[in-house]
This record gives sequence, C-alpha cells and structure tokens, in this order.
Amino acid sequence: MAVLPSIEFVEASLPEGGVLALLSGEGGAVDASLPEPLRKAVEKAARVGAFKGKRLGVLDMLAPADLSFDRLLVVGTHAANVMEDEDWLKLGGAIAAKAKGTERLTLWARGADGAAIAPRDLARLAAGIVLRGYEFDLYKSKKKKAGEEEEPKAALTVAIAVGDAAAARAAFAREEAIVSGTILARDLVNEPANVLGPVEFADRIAELSAHGLEIEILDEAKMGELKMAALLGVAQGSPRPARMAIMRWNGGPEGEAPLAFVGKGVVFDTGGISIKPAGSMDEMKGDMGGAAAVVGLMRALAGRKARVNAVGIVGLVENSVDGNAQRPGDIVTAMSGTTIEVLNTDAEGRLVLADALWYCQERFQPKFMIDLATLTGAIIVALGHHHAGLFSNDDTLADRLLAAGKASGEKLWRMPLGPEYDKQIEGKFADIKNIGGGRAAGSVTAAQFLQRFVNDKPWAHLDVAGTAMGSPANEYNQSWGSGFGVRLLDQLVADGYEAG
Ligand code: BES
Ligand code: MN
Ligand code: ZN
Repeated sequence: MAVLPSIEFVEASLPEGGVLALLSGEGGAVDASLPEPLRKAVEKAARVGAFKGKRLGVLDMLAPADLSFDRLLVVGTHAANVMEDEDWLKLGGAIAAKAKGTERLTLWARGADGAAIAPRDLARLAAGIVLRGYEFDLYKSKKKKAGEEEEPKAALTVAIAVGDAAAARAAFAREEAIVSGTILARDLVNEPANVLGPVEFADRIAELSAHGLEIEILDEAKMGELKMAALLGVAQGSPRPARMAIMRWNGGPEGEAPLAFVGKGVVFDTGGISIKPAGSMDEMKGDMGGAAAVVGLMRALAGRKARVNAVGIVGLVENSVDGNAQRPGDIVTAMSGTTIEVLNTDAEGRLVLADALWYCQERFQPKFMIDLATLTGAIIVALGHHHAGLFSNDDTLADRLLAAGKASGEKLWRMPLGPEYDKQIEGKFADIKNIGGGRAAGSVTAAQFLQRFVNDKPWAHLDVAGTAMGSPANEYNQSWGSGFGVRLLDQLVADGYEAG
C-alpha cells in the first residue's frame, strides 16, 4: 500500500532545498517576518498570477535562484478567522495534492499577520495532508522492468514549522486517532467481497483489541439462540456464515450507560432472489459502509482515549442467492417477536438492523442508538452525494447530529418520520413487510421499518448510501470508500457526551 505522509512539528527556521509552503492572507500577503526576498518574490508572483490569497487557492512557483529552496507553494487562508473547521482539512489536502511526488515539504505555519495558528487548526491541517495521501492500491501489481528491484513509492515527509511544537503535537495526537479510524473505514469499504466476507470482517474487528477495545463475536449458533431470524434469513443464501461483532470502549465513568452505534455490514448485496441488475452491482461490495464507519469510530475513540462509554455493534452478512436463499413472501420472526413478510429480498439491510438494534437496546440500555447504513438507493435520489439522510425520534439528538455534521464537514439533512409513512409498511400476512409498497418515500419507509425495532429509545438513523462510497472526491478524500461517519460521530461524542 502507498505509505501515508508522515508529519512532524518543528520550531526550526526555513529549510534548505525542497518545497516550502506558506500561508497567505488577502492579496497574497505572507508572514512579515519571512526574509524580504522571499516575501517580495511571492508578492510579485501574486500580482502577476493574480493570486488573491483566496481560501484554498494555491500558487505554485519555482523559488527564485537566490533563495535556498527549490519550489514554493502559497496557499490562501483569506483570512484565518473565516476558515471553517473543515477548511483546515481541505487546506491540508490542497497542499498535499500539490506536493505529490515530492519527498520533503516544509510548511511555514504562520498567517499573513505573523499570527500563530491554533493547535487544533494545525492538527486538522495535518490530518488533511495524511487523508489526502491515502490511496487504496493494495491490488495494483507494481510495474517494473525486468531485473529491476521493486521500488516502494516514497512517502511524503512533512515538517510543519510552528511557534509551539509541543501544543501542536498534542492536538495532532488526538486528530491522528480519528484519521486512523477514517482510513480503517476506507480500507474496509474498498476491499472486495471475495477478500472481506463476514468472517474475515469479524477477524479484522477482533484485531482491534490491541487498541483497548473489548471485542465479542457472535456466530450463527449464538445468533440462532438469540432468535435473530431476520438477520439470519438474509445470510441463508450465502455459503459464508453471518457474524455479529460487538465492540466496547469503556473510557467513561464505570456503570454509566453507553452511547451505541450500530452498522449495516452487508459485505456484498446481490439483492438475493429479488436480484439486482448487473450494471454497477460491483459497487455493492461497499454495502458494509455503515459497519465500516462504526468500526472506524470505535478505533478512533479508543485511539484518543475518549472519556466516554461506547458500544459498536455490526451485523455482518452476505446477501447472496442459492437454493437455500430466502424467498419473496417468506415470513420471519425477528428477535423482538415482530413478524416480517420479506416481500423483496433486496430490502435486506433493514432485516439485519432489526435484530442488531433490538439486541443493542435490550442488552446495553444505551443513552441513544445511532445506526449507519447504506440502506436505500432512494436517499441518493433525494440528497445526492453531499448529505447523508438523518432520521430520528429525538429532536435533541437530531440537532446535535446536524451540528456535528456542519462542524466535521460530513453533512446531514433531516428527513421526516410519521405515522402516515408507518402505515405503508403494515403487513398483509405478518405484522410488517420489508418494503413500503411502490417507490414513494423509499428512504422514509425504510427508516420507519427500523423504528419498529428501537423500542422507543432515543435513536437516529443515518442513510449513508450516497456518502459512504462513490461520493465526489474532495481535497482530503480521493478514495471511493470515503470513511464517512467516523469524523462526524467523533465530533458528536466530543462535543456533547464526554466526561469533563
Ligand atoms: N444496499 C442497497 C441500497 C443501495 C443502493 C446502497 C445503491 C448504495 C447504492 C439496499 O440493500 C437496497 O437494495 N435497497 C433497495 C430497497 C428496495 C428493494 C425497497 C433499493 O434501494 O432499491
Ligand atoms: Mn439490497
Ligand atoms: Zn443492501
């Protein structure tokens, strides 16, 4: 795999050779304490190139011969105080993009007015550099000429020159945990389904005990005892058995009710007997994006030793099709006792989550449950790829999630729930059916279905079908699997639920 950029914070002076990156304010002005020839060169280039120091604009120039380094990047922050949190990530990403192919980069992290940049912003900037450097190239065999040694791609080493390196390092240590969680989620989504089946996924989760997470894996026998027939029905058309993984992080006061995060982990979704069309079916290797985000979040919370109790639960199945596969019209009894008519075997995510949610609230009595799922194509029709759908029975939780979305850049848009929609899933032969009937409000009826299994606990559902994978590349994400949800939920926890 491509090696990620490495970051160090230094208090040293300007480098000799290599690439120097500077931050600029309005009109291309840079830190006044920089040597005059350097400032003049940038000002001139800014004038000629009409570089205005606009937020995230980049001026890329060769350094004049009398300066001691080779290339100069000037990145606009116009002005630092209008930079939103996400802009610092984007800024880091924009710098990393321009530095691609370089081995050493020094960033002079002072604003145009010479002002120091807050450690938290520096940490996000550095995170943006690392996240931009992520590339899933595990299966690209290296092209080499006969007789040549395989050359690993050189990693970018970044020195960030700051006033207070210790403070920046401390802020980045926390941020690094979130980056690791995001990258873990991206890896899981990008992995093909032949490599990552339910058992392999559970094995990867089990490895996280090295980070201080308590892990439990339920096999099919155990889930059978628990009467999780809704989840097991989805798995029965695949030769690869289902798993449920439970991750616990106990960083908060002992005995305090945990926050709970539940993820849809369909390692591949063929649709089952209600089979999907062939076009783009390959993308259904990402139908575990919700589970990946839950795993990444738990990794992040553990990595930064969050002062909170949290539990992550993921239902891991393959929705495939063989002679034993579930049929349209089958009726299953979920762990809750609710009977479900499976009218469309492609509406499988809700069946998996039905048992995961019920189990979660019954066993853990959490403060709230948030589920993440690549649940419906309809949410992509409604919101495209720039917002995930948010459904909730609790306005406080919903508002906090919306705020965390704004702050993290992983944006949410609230969608409705209501008895009118709930009526759409009433069953003919059983309590409920797994589709809403017709195409109207497909994401809402899916959410209504989930709500039947939350037992009136505070709950939110994030439909991440449009954001967990295949979302447009941006400054700090070029990967198909985006890791959406990790940064968002870490922000939610940090802003509202950690012990003082
Ligand atoms: N995994 C899909 C939803 C999906 C679609 C995710 C496209 C990402 C991209 C889900 O299991 C599904 O098939 N949903 C059906 C529901 C329908 C049968 C009621 C859908 O959206 O068409
Ligand atoms: Mn499906
Ligand atoms: Zn699915």
